[in-house]
Formats: sequence, structure tokens, C-alpha cells
Amino acid sequence: MKQIEITSKIDVYSYDELSEIDKKLLKEARKACDLSHSPYSHFKVGCAIRLQNGQSVIGANQENASYPVCICAEGVALSNASMQYPNTAIDTMAITIKTPTNSSNSPVAPCGVCRQSISEYENRYNNNIRLILQGETGDIYILNSIKEILPLGFGASDLIAK
Ligand code: THU
Repeated sequence: MKQIEITSKIDVYSYDELSEIDKKLLKEARKACDLSHSPYSHFKVGCAIRLQNGQSVIGANQENASYPVCICAEGVALSNASMQYPNTAIDTMAITIKTPTNSSNSPVAPCGVCRQSISEYENRYNNNIRLILQGETGDIYILNSIKEILPLGFGASDLIAK
């Protein structure tokens, strides 16, 4: 029997340690929370994407009375990027939240479905996407690729018979 160990690398920053462009992107994500339609969970998620052409797009979670129809902030932002800037790779995504109690200071990471969507985008343009994650306040996690939190991810290459 052999064993494989998979580890993740996450850099932890304070807000003041961020570069100016990362601060700007995180601010855009925070502002995007205000566009959340979340009357059911009251959990506002905002996402801002910086593309490799320097442009940015945003997304916020859009809920539905039929709960499974909800679209996550990351999904909205990725669709926005794909529609507005086709053929352009993503450099960085910032994700943050606003809650009614303003009390969560731990970073929120993308859900499993969003991890898969981000992974597809990495594979599509063959480039890693940096992720900046923050709660309402507190530590900021920076990951250099979704692979850090989606080990053994499924992708197009798995569909090819080997
Ligand atoms: N949500 C996101 O927007 N992104 C995630 O990665 C996790 C969850 C949203 C979906 C729903 O509107 C609310 O957060 C509560 O689950």
C-alpha cells in the first residue's frame, strides 16, 4: 500500500499588507454584496474578478424562493466575465460577505460547485487564478490557485480515455 498526501498552501494577510490593486478588488467585492438578492438567507456574498486585461467584473448571490435555484456570487461573476470579456483569462477573484449581524471575521471560501466552476476557468485558459478571501473583517486568505482547495479536481482531461 502506498499513501499520497495532499497539502494546501494558504497565505494569511492583514488588510494593510495587501497591494493597492488587491485592496481595490476586495473593496469591489464588498460593494458587490449590496447587489445580493438574499431575502431567504440574508447572507450577502460579493465577488469581484480582475481579468488579465485589467478590467474587472462583479457578482453577488441571487436567491430564489425555490431554494436550489440560487446562484452563488462566484457563478454570477464568472458568467459576467465570460459574457463581457470572452477569450480573456482571469487573474484574481476576491470574495467576501455581509451578514445581518456583521459578525463573521473568518474568510469564506467558495462552495464545492463554485470551486468546480473556477477550476473550469483555470483549465480553459491554462492559468492559475489567485483567490482573495475575507469575512466581514479579519484575516485575508490568499491562494494561488483553486487547486489548493480542490485537490484531485475533475476536468476535461479526465473525459479522455487513457
Ligand atoms: N453562497 C455564495 O454566493 N457563494 C458560495 O460560495 C457559498 C454560498 C450563497 C448562496 C446563498 O445565497 C447563500 O450564500 C447562503 O448559502
